[in-house]
Amino acid sequence: MSETVAFPQDRTCPYHPPAGYAPLRGGRPLSRVTLFDGRSVWVVTGHAEARALLSDGRLSADRENAAFPMPTPRFKGLKVRRAALLGVDDPEHNTQRRMLIPGFTLKRTAALRPRIRATVDRLLDEMVAAGPRAELVGAFALPVPSMVICALLGVPYEDHEFFEGQSRRLLRGPEAADVEDARRQLDAYLVGLIGRKRREPGDGLLDELIAQRLETGTIDVEELVALAVILLVAGHETTANMISLGTFTLLRHPEQLAELRAEPTLMPTAVEELMRFLSIADGMLRVATEDIEIGGVTVRADDGIVFSTSVINRDAAVFAEPDALDWHRPNGHHVAFGFGIHQCLGQNLARAEMEIALTALFERLPGLRLAADPDHIPFKPGDTIQGMVELPVAW
Ligand code: HEM
Repeated sequence: MSETVAFPQDRTCPYHPPAGYAPLRGGRPLSRVTLFDGRSVWVVTGHAEARALLSDGRLSADRENAAFPMPTPRFKGLKVRRAALLGVDDPEHNTQRRMLIPGFTLKRTAALRPRIRATVDRLLDEMVAAGPRAELVGAFALPVPSMVICALLGVPYEDHEFFEGQSRRLLRGPEAADVEDARRQLDAYLVGLIGRKRREPGDGLLDELIAQRLETGTIDVEELVALAVILLVAGHETTANMISLGTFTLLRHPEQLAELRAEPTLMPTAVEELMRFLSIADGMLRVATEDIEIGGVTVRADDGIVFSTSVINRDAAVFAEPDALDWHRPNGHHVAFGFGIHQCLGQNLARAEMEIALTALFERLPGLRLAADPDHIPFKPGDTIQGMVELPVAW
Protein backbone atom coordinates (compact mmCIF):
# COMPACT_ATOMS: atom_id res chain seq x y z
CA MET A 1 0.00 0.00 0.00
CA SER A 2 1.25 3.48 -0.83
CA GLU A 3 0.50 4.53 2.81
CA THR A 4 3.73 2.88 3.88
CA VAL A 5 6.05 4.49 1.30
CA ALA A 6 8.81 6.50 2.98
CA PHE A 7 9.86 9.87 1.54
CA PRO A 8 12.51 10.77 0.52
CA GLN A 9 14.37 7.58 -0.42
CA ASP A 10 17.80 7.03 -1.95
CA ARG A 11 17.93 6.23 -5.63
CA THR A 12 19.06 2.74 -6.58
CA CYS A 13 20.32 3.96 -9.95
CA PRO A 14 21.46 7.60 -10.02
CA TYR A 15 19.29 8.47 -13.02
CA HIS A 16 16.05 6.67 -12.16
CA PRO A 17 13.48 7.45 -9.44
CA PRO A 18 14.10 5.39 -6.27
CA ALA A 19 12.89 1.79 -6.70
CA GLY A 20 10.93 2.31 -3.47
CA TYR A 21 8.68 4.85 -5.23
CA ALA A 22 7.30 2.11 -7.53
CA PRO A 23 3.96 2.00 -5.65
CA LEU A 24 3.52 5.73 -6.35
CA ARG A 25 3.93 5.34 -10.10
CA GLY A 26 1.03 4.85 -12.47
CA GLY A 27 -1.54 5.01 -9.72
CA ARG A 28 -3.35 7.95 -8.22
CA PRO A 29 -1.99 11.45 -8.92
CA LEU A 30 -1.82 12.14 -5.18
CA SER A 31 -1.10 9.57 -2.48
CA ARG A 32 0.31 9.47 1.04
CA VAL A 33 3.94 9.06 2.10
CA THR A 34 5.62 9.05 5.49
CA LEU A 35 8.40 11.46 6.45
CA PHE A 36 11.34 10.63 8.75
CA ASP A 37 9.50 12.03 11.78
CA GLY A 38 6.55 9.72 11.17
CA ARG A 39 4.34 12.45 9.73
CA SER A 40 2.05 11.43 6.89
CA VAL A 41 1.88 13.94 4.01
CA TRP A 42 0.59 14.10 0.45
CA VAL A 43 2.91 13.24 -2.39
CA VAL A 44 2.00 14.62 -5.81
CA THR A 45 2.99 12.37 -8.72
CA GLY A 46 0.53 13.39 -11.49
CA HIS A 47 1.88 15.95 -13.97
CA ALA A 48 -1.38 17.90 -14.44
CA GLU A 49 -2.06 17.97 -10.69
CA ALA A 50 1.51 19.10 -9.97
CA ARG A 51 1.22 22.05 -12.33
CA ALA A 52 -2.19 22.97 -10.94
CA LEU A 53 -1.02 22.82 -7.33
CA LEU A 54 2.31 24.59 -7.90
CA SER A 55 0.42 27.56 -9.33
CA ASP A 56 -2.29 27.51 -6.64
CA GLY A 57 -2.14 30.44 -4.20
CA ARG A 58 -3.60 28.23 -1.44
CA LEU A 59 -0.25 26.47 -1.13
CA SER A 60 2.50 28.10 0.90
CA ALA A 61 6.29 27.81 0.72
CA ASP A 62 6.72 29.56 4.09
CA ARG A 63 9.01 27.41 6.21
CA GLU A 64 8.00 29.34 9.32
CA ASN A 65 4.54 27.81 9.07
CA ALA A 66 4.44 25.25 11.90
CA ALA A 67 2.75 22.75 9.56
CA PHE A 68 5.48 22.98 6.88
CA PRO A 69 6.71 19.44 6.07
CA MET A 70 10.24 18.51 7.15
CA PRO A 71 11.68 15.77 4.94
CA THR A 72 14.90 15.34 6.96
CA PRO A 73 16.27 16.52 10.35
CA ARG A 74 18.44 19.19 8.74
CA PHE A 75 15.37 21.03 7.45
CA LYS A 76 14.61 22.13 10.98
CA GLY A 77 17.76 24.29 10.67
CA LEU A 78 16.30 26.09 7.67
CA LYS A 79 13.75 27.69 9.94
CA VAL A 80 16.39 29.74 11.73
CA ARG A 81 16.55 32.34 9.02
CA ARG A 82 13.98 32.23 6.31
CA ALA A 83 15.32 31.60 2.83
CA ALA A 84 14.57 34.51 0.52
CA LEU A 85 12.37 33.76 -2.52
CA LEU A 86 12.01 30.00 -2.10
CA GLY A 87 10.87 30.30 1.51
CA VAL A 88 8.37 33.17 1.18
CA ASP A 89 4.94 33.65 -0.38
CA ASP A 90 3.53 36.48 -2.46
CA PRO A 91 3.37 39.45 -2.17
CA GLU A 92 6.74 39.43 -0.37
CA HIS A 93 8.08 36.84 -2.81
CA ASN A 94 7.05 38.91 -5.82
CA THR A 95 8.82 42.00 -4.47
CA GLN A 96 12.05 40.03 -4.01
CA ARG A 97 11.81 38.28 -7.37
CA ARG A 98 11.24 41.51 -9.28
CA MET A 99 14.48 42.90 -7.89
CA LEU A 100 16.42 39.98 -9.36
CA ILE A 101 14.68 39.47 -12.71
CA PRO A 102 16.87 42.00 -14.62
CA GLY A 103 19.91 39.87 -13.73
CA PHE A 104 18.44 36.72 -15.31
CA THR A 105 16.81 37.75 -18.59
CA LEU A 106 17.49 35.77 -21.78
CA LYS A 107 19.45 38.75 -23.10
CA ARG A 108 21.64 38.96 -20.03
CA THR A 109 22.26 35.21 -20.13
CA ALA A 110 23.11 35.32 -23.85
CA ALA A 111 25.69 37.99 -23.09
CA LEU A 112 27.31 35.63 -20.56
CA ARG A 113 27.74 32.79 -23.10
CA PRO A 114 31.22 33.78 -24.36
CA ARG A 115 32.39 34.02 -20.77
CA ILE A 116 30.93 30.58 -19.97
CA ARG A 117 32.60 29.15 -23.08
CA ALA A 118 35.97 30.65 -22.07
CA THR A 119 35.64 29.20 -18.54
CA VAL A 120 34.75 25.77 -19.93
CA ASP A 121 37.65 25.83 -22.40
CA ARG A 122 40.15 26.85 -19.74
CA LEU A 123 39.04 24.07 -17.40
CA LEU A 124 39.21 21.51 -20.21
CA ASP A 125 42.71 22.73 -21.17
CA GLU A 126 43.83 22.16 -17.59
CA MET A 127 42.18 18.74 -17.48
CA VAL A 128 43.78 17.66 -20.76
CA ALA A 129 47.20 18.89 -19.64
CA ALA A 130 46.93 16.83 -16.44
CA GLY A 131 45.21 13.85 -18.18
CA PRO A 132 44.38 11.30 -19.44
CA ARG A 133 42.31 10.78 -16.27
CA ALA A 134 40.35 13.15 -14.05
CA GLU A 135 37.78 13.31 -11.30
CA LEU A 136 35.17 15.21 -13.26
CA VAL A 137 33.15 16.71 -10.37
CA GLY A 138 36.13 18.54 -8.90
CA ALA A 139 37.88 19.29 -12.19
CA PHE A 140 34.91 20.43 -14.24
CA ALA A 141 31.29 19.94 -13.12
CA LEU A 142 31.56 22.09 -9.99
CA PRO A 143 34.03 24.80 -11.10
CA VAL A 144 32.02 25.69 -14.25
CA PRO A 145 28.84 26.87 -12.46
CA SER A 146 30.81 28.13 -9.50
CA MET A 147 32.94 30.42 -11.68
CA VAL A 148 29.88 31.54 -13.63
CA ILE A 149 27.85 32.49 -10.56
CA CYS A 150 30.87 34.33 -9.15
CA ALA A 151 31.22 36.30 -12.38
CA LEU A 152 27.48 37.05 -12.46
CA LEU A 153 27.24 38.17 -8.84
CA GLY A 154 30.67 39.74 -8.55
CA VAL A 155 31.85 37.34 -5.83
CA PRO A 156 35.64 36.66 -5.83
CA TYR A 157 36.24 33.11 -7.09
CA GLU A 158 39.26 32.83 -4.74
CA ASP A 159 36.67 32.27 -2.00
CA HIS A 160 35.05 29.33 -3.80
CA GLU A 161 36.23 26.62 -1.43
CA PHE A 162 34.61 28.44 1.46
CA PHE A 163 31.20 29.01 -0.12
CA GLU A 164 31.10 25.66 -1.90
CA GLY A 165 31.80 23.95 1.41
CA GLN A 166 29.16 25.95 3.27
CA SER A 167 26.60 25.39 0.49
CA ARG A 168 27.25 21.67 0.74
CA ARG A 169 26.58 21.80 4.49
CA LEU A 170 23.45 23.88 3.90
CA LEU A 171 22.10 21.40 1.36
CA ARG A 172 23.49 18.18 2.77
CA GLY A 173 24.48 18.73 6.40
CA PRO A 174 23.13 15.81 8.37
CA GLU A 175 21.77 17.88 11.27
CA ALA A 176 19.94 21.16 11.78
CA ALA A 177 23.04 22.48 13.61
CA ASP A 178 25.16 22.12 10.41
CA VAL A 179 22.58 24.04 8.43
CA GLU A 180 22.33 26.81 11.04
CA ASP A 181 26.09 27.19 11.26
CA ALA A 182 26.57 27.12 7.47
CA ARG A 183 23.96 29.83 7.04
CA ARG A 184 25.60 31.96 9.78
CA GLN A 185 28.99 31.64 8.09
CA LEU A 186 27.63 32.48 4.65
CA ASP A 187 25.80 35.48 6.11
CA ALA A 188 28.97 36.77 7.80
CA TYR A 189 30.98 36.30 4.60
CA LEU A 190 28.43 38.22 2.52
CA VAL A 191 28.09 41.02 5.07
CA GLY A 192 31.87 41.49 4.78
CA LEU A 193 31.79 41.33 0.99
CA ILE A 194 28.92 43.83 0.74
CA GLY A 195 30.82 46.18 3.06
CA ARG A 196 33.90 46.01 0.83
CA LYS A 197 31.82 46.48 -2.30
CA ARG A 198 30.17 49.59 -0.86
CA ARG A 199 33.64 51.12 -0.57
CA GLU A 200 34.94 49.75 -3.88
CA PRO A 201 32.08 48.92 -6.27
CA GLY A 202 32.57 46.23 -8.93
CA ASP A 203 30.46 45.23 -11.93
CA GLY A 204 28.43 42.24 -10.70
CA LEU A 205 24.73 41.79 -9.96
CA LEU A 206 25.48 42.23 -6.27
CA ASP A 207 27.04 45.62 -7.02
CA GLU A 208 23.94 46.62 -8.99
CA LEU A 209 21.70 45.60 -6.11
CA ILE A 210 23.87 47.57 -3.69
CA ALA A 211 23.66 50.70 -5.85
CA GLN A 212 19.99 50.42 -6.84
CA ARG A 213 18.41 48.85 -3.74
CA LEU A 214 20.66 49.08 -0.71
CA GLU A 215 21.98 52.62 -1.10
CA THR A 216 18.48 53.84 -1.97
CA GLY A 217 17.05 52.28 1.20
CA THR A 218 14.66 49.87 -0.62
CA ILE A 219 16.23 46.94 1.25
CA ASP A 220 18.62 46.58 4.17
CA VAL A 221 21.84 44.57 4.41
CA GLU A 222 20.06 41.58 5.96
CA GLU A 223 17.61 41.34 3.04
CA LEU A 224 20.39 41.71 0.48
CA VAL A 225 22.42 38.99 2.21
CA ALA A 226 19.40 36.66 2.10
CA LEU A 227 19.02 37.23 -1.66
CA ALA A 228 22.75 36.74 -2.27
CA VAL A 229 22.81 33.50 -0.24
CA ILE A 230 20.05 31.92 -2.27
CA LEU A 231 21.66 32.91 -5.58
CA LEU A 232 25.06 31.68 -4.50
CA VAL A 233 23.76 28.35 -3.21
CA ALA A 234 21.09 27.67 -5.87
CA GLY A 235 23.43 28.79 -8.63
CA HIS A 236 26.18 26.21 -8.49
CA GLU A 237 25.30 22.98 -6.68
CA THR A 238 22.28 22.23 -8.90
CA THR A 239 24.01 22.90 -12.21
CA ALA A 240 27.12 21.03 -11.10
CA ASN A 241 24.97 17.99 -10.40
CA MET A 242 23.31 18.20 -13.79
CA ILE A 243 26.72 18.32 -15.49
CA SER A 244 28.12 15.37 -13.51
CA LEU A 245 25.00 13.21 -13.60
CA GLY A 246 24.32 14.26 -17.22
CA THR A 247 27.80 13.08 -18.24
CA PHE A 248 27.39 9.80 -16.35
CA THR A 249 23.98 9.23 -17.98
CA LEU A 250 25.28 9.96 -21.49
CA LEU A 251 28.21 7.57 -20.99
CA ARG A 252 25.71 4.91 -19.87
CA HIS A 253 23.54 5.55 -22.99
CA PRO A 254 26.03 5.17 -25.86
CA GLU A 255 23.38 5.19 -28.61
CA GLN A 256 21.92 8.49 -27.50
CA LEU A 257 25.42 9.90 -27.04
CA ALA A 258 26.44 8.84 -30.55
CA GLU A 259 23.35 10.50 -31.97
CA LEU A 260 24.14 13.70 -30.10
CA ARG A 261 27.73 13.67 -31.32
CA ALA A 262 26.59 13.18 -34.90
CA GLU A 263 24.02 15.97 -34.60
CA PRO A 264 25.25 18.63 -32.17
CA THR A 265 22.26 20.91 -32.88
CA LEU A 266 20.24 18.42 -30.81
CA MET A 267 21.99 19.66 -27.66
CA PRO A 268 19.31 22.14 -26.46
CA THR A 269 16.58 19.45 -26.72
CA ALA A 270 18.95 16.91 -25.18
CA VAL A 271 19.50 19.21 -22.19
CA GLU A 272 15.72 19.51 -21.76
CA GLU A 273 15.32 15.71 -21.93
CA LEU A 274 18.16 15.24 -19.45
CA MET A 275 16.44 17.71 -17.12
CA ARG A 276 13.25 15.63 -17.31
CA PHE A 277 14.97 12.28 -17.09
CA LEU A 278 17.28 13.14 -14.18
CA SER A 279 14.91 15.41 -12.20
CA ILE A 280 17.71 16.26 -9.80
CA ALA A 281 15.61 18.51 -7.53
CA ASP A 282 13.46 15.57 -6.48
CA GLY A 283 11.14 16.87 -3.76
CA MET A 284 9.62 20.35 -3.74
CA LEU A 285 7.80 21.16 -0.50
CA ARG A 286 4.66 23.10 0.37
CA VAL A 287 1.92 23.33 2.99
CA ALA A 288 -1.79 23.86 2.23
CA THR A 289 -3.35 26.96 3.79
CA GLU A 290 -6.94 26.04 2.81
CA ASP A 291 -8.86 22.90 1.83
CA ILE A 292 -8.29 22.00 -1.85
CA GLU A 293 -10.15 19.43 -3.97
CA ILE A 294 -7.79 17.87 -6.48
CA GLY A 295 -7.18 14.55 -8.23
CA GLY A 296 -10.15 12.94 -6.45
CA VAL A 297 -8.95 13.80 -2.93
CA THR A 298 -9.33 16.66 -0.48
CA VAL A 299 -6.11 18.24 0.70
CA ARG A 300 -6.89 19.84 4.06
CA ALA A 301 -5.54 23.12 5.40
CA ASP A 302 -2.21 22.45 7.20
CA ASP A 303 -1.58 19.24 5.25
CA GLY A 304 2.03 18.88 4.11
CA ILE A 305 2.64 18.33 0.39
CA VAL A 306 5.76 17.02 -1.35
CA PHE A 307 6.20 16.97 -5.12
CA SER A 308 8.18 14.00 -6.39
CA THR A 309 9.70 15.60 -9.46
CA SER A 310 11.23 12.35 -10.73
CA VAL A 311 7.86 10.59 -10.71
CA ILE A 312 5.91 13.60 -12.05
CA ASN A 313 8.35 13.87 -14.97
CA ARG A 314 7.72 10.22 -15.81
CA ASP A 315 3.93 10.48 -15.84
CA ALA A 316 3.04 8.18 -18.76
CA ALA A 317 -0.06 10.27 -19.52
CA VAL A 318 2.27 13.04 -20.72
CA PHE A 319 5.57 11.31 -21.56
CA ALA A 320 5.24 8.14 -23.67
CA GLU A 321 7.72 5.45 -22.58
CA PRO A 322 8.81 7.72 -19.75
CA ASP A 323 11.78 5.59 -18.65
CA ALA A 324 13.50 5.97 -22.03
CA LEU A 325 16.00 8.74 -22.74
CA ASP A 326 14.75 10.09 -26.05
CA TRP A 327 15.93 13.26 -27.79
CA HIS A 328 12.88 13.25 -30.07
CA ARG A 329 9.97 13.19 -27.65
CA PRO A 330 7.48 16.07 -27.94
CA ASN A 331 7.93 18.83 -25.37
CA GLY A 332 5.85 17.64 -22.42
CA HIS A 333 6.78 20.59 -20.21
CA HIS A 334 8.68 18.83 -17.45
CA VAL A 335 8.66 20.41 -14.00
CA ALA A 336 12.37 19.86 -13.27
CA PHE A 337 12.77 23.65 -12.87
CA GLY A 338 9.57 23.79 -10.81
CA PHE A 339 6.40 25.56 -11.91
CA GLY A 340 4.35 28.57 -10.86
CA ILE A 341 5.67 31.57 -8.96
CA HIS A 342 8.79 29.81 -7.65
CA GLN A 343 9.82 28.39 -11.02
CA CYS A 344 13.61 28.51 -11.26
CA LEU A 345 14.90 32.03 -11.72
CA GLY A 346 18.24 30.79 -13.05
CA GLN A 347 16.89 28.37 -15.66
CA ASN A 348 18.14 30.30 -18.72
CA LEU A 349 21.58 30.48 -17.19
CA ALA A 350 21.53 26.80 -16.16
CA ARG A 351 20.51 25.76 -19.68
CA ALA A 352 23.32 27.82 -21.23
CA GLU A 353 25.88 26.32 -18.84
CA MET A 354 24.74 22.74 -19.44
CA GLU A 355 24.68 23.14 -23.24
CA ILE A 356 28.11 24.73 -23.40
CA ALA A 357 29.74 22.41 -20.85
CA LEU A 358 28.40 19.14 -22.28
CA THR A 359 29.04 20.15 -25.91
CA ALA A 360 32.65 21.14 -25.23
CA LEU A 361 33.34 18.13 -22.99
CA PHE A 362 32.32 15.56 -25.60
CA GLU A 363 33.88 17.52 -28.48
CA ARG A 364 37.25 17.93 -26.82
CA LEU A 365 37.39 14.40 -25.39
CA PRO A 366 36.03 12.02 -28.03
CA GLY A 367 37.31 9.01 -26.10
CA LEU A 368 35.71 10.03 -22.79
CA ARG A 369 34.77 7.00 -20.67
CA LEU A 370 34.12 6.04 -17.06
CA ALA A 371 37.29 5.08 -15.21
CA ALA A 372 35.58 3.01 -12.52
CA ASP A 373 32.89 0.36 -12.20
CA PRO A 374 29.62 2.31 -12.77
CA ASP A 375 27.94 0.38 -9.96
CA HIS A 376 30.53 1.65 -7.49
CA ILE A 377 30.71 5.33 -8.37
CA PRO A 378 29.19 7.19 -5.40
CA PHE A 379 26.13 9.39 -5.92
CA LYS A 380 24.15 11.64 -3.60
CA PRO A 381 21.50 10.46 -1.18
CA GLY A 382 17.80 11.00 -1.78
CA ASP A 383 17.26 13.80 0.70
CA THR A 384 19.14 16.28 -1.41
CA ILE A 385 19.71 17.47 -4.94
CA GLN A 386 20.69 14.36 -6.91
CA GLY A 387 24.10 14.14 -8.53
CA MET A 388 27.43 12.35 -8.48
CA VAL A 389 29.69 12.67 -5.45
CA GLU A 390 32.67 11.74 -7.63
CA LEU A 391 33.01 10.89 -11.31
CA PRO A 392 36.29 9.24 -12.31
CA VAL A 393 36.79 9.49 -16.08
CA ALA A 394 39.53 8.77 -18.61
CA TRP A 395 39.94 9.52 -22.33
C1 HEM B 1 20.13 22.68 -13.62
C2 HEM B 1 20.21 23.46 -12.59
C3 HEM B 1 19.03 23.90 -11.76
C4 HEM B 1 17.94 23.18 -11.34
C5 HEM B 1 17.62 21.72 -11.61
C6 HEM B 1 17.10 24.09 -10.57
C7 HEM B 1 15.90 23.73 -10.01
C8 HEM B 1 15.05 24.61 -9.35
C9 HEM B 1 13.73 24.28 -8.88
C10 HEM B 1 13.06 22.91 -9.00
C11 HEM B 1 13.21 25.39 -8.31
C12 HEM B 1 11.81 25.52 -7.67
C13 HEM B 1 11.78 25.02 -6.27
C14 HEM B 1 10.42 25.08 -5.63
O1 HEM B 1 9.45 25.50 -6.26
O2 HEM B 1 10.30 24.66 -4.46
C15 HEM B 1 14.21 26.43 -8.41
C16 HEM B 1 14.08 27.70 -7.91
C17 HEM B 1 15.10 28.63 -7.93
N1 HEM B 1 16.31 28.54 -8.59
FE1 HEM B 1 16.97 26.99 -9.66
N2 HEM B 1 17.72 25.31 -10.53
C18 HEM B 1 18.88 25.25 -11.25
C19 HEM B 1 19.79 26.27 -11.47
C20 HEM B 1 19.71 27.52 -10.91
C21 HEM B 1 20.66 28.60 -11.12
C22 HEM B 1 21.88 28.53 -12.02
C23 HEM B 1 20.22 29.65 -10.35
C24 HEM B 1 20.78 31.03 -10.14
C25 HEM B 1 21.84 31.53 -10.49
C26 HEM B 1 18.99 29.24 -9.70
C27 HEM B 1 18.26 30.03 -8.85
C28 HEM B 1 17.01 29.70 -8.36
C29 HEM B 1 16.22 30.60 -7.53
C30 HEM B 1 16.63 31.98 -7.06
C31 HEM B 1 15.02 29.92 -7.24
C32 HEM B 1 13.86 30.42 -6.40
C33 HEM B 1 12.88 31.15 -7.25
C34 HEM B 1 11.68 31.67 -6.51
O3 HEM B 1 11.36 31.18 -5.42
O4 HEM B 1 11.03 32.57 -7.05
N3 HEM B 1 18.71 27.96 -10.07
N4 HEM B 1 15.33 25.93 -9.07
